[in-house]
Amino acid sequence: MRLEELRGERVTRSDGFTFRWDEQEITAYPGETILGALIASDIHTLRSTRFEHEPRGMLCAIGVCYECLVNVDGKPNRRACVTPAAPGMIVRPEGQDEEMRYDAAE
Ligand code: FES
Repeated sequence: MRLEELRGERVTRSDGFTFRWDEQEITAYPGETILGALIASDIHTLRSTRFEHEPRGMLCAIGVCYECLVNVDGKPNRRACVTPAAPGMIVRPEGQDEEMRYDAAE
């Protein structure tokens, strides 16, 4: 769910595009962050902790806490709350590959 358009907002709502989150196509608008688009699509869990596998998502939403780390086009540890969404990007929960390597080494 998105808020109603506000006068002077930085998001342009007329030219929507999509990017991939795991197996889903997510709609975003120019000026919107990855986190904004995911929250609007009712996705709140962005990753899980390495050892306890506890869900993590948005906390500060201003780039300070590093709770919202995601993998963007193969680049790890991008903060979803300050990274602009772009057409065709592939976003995945952070730590999936690292977790698999860790489990394989046990
Ligand atoms: S939610 Fe805190 S850095 Fe993104």
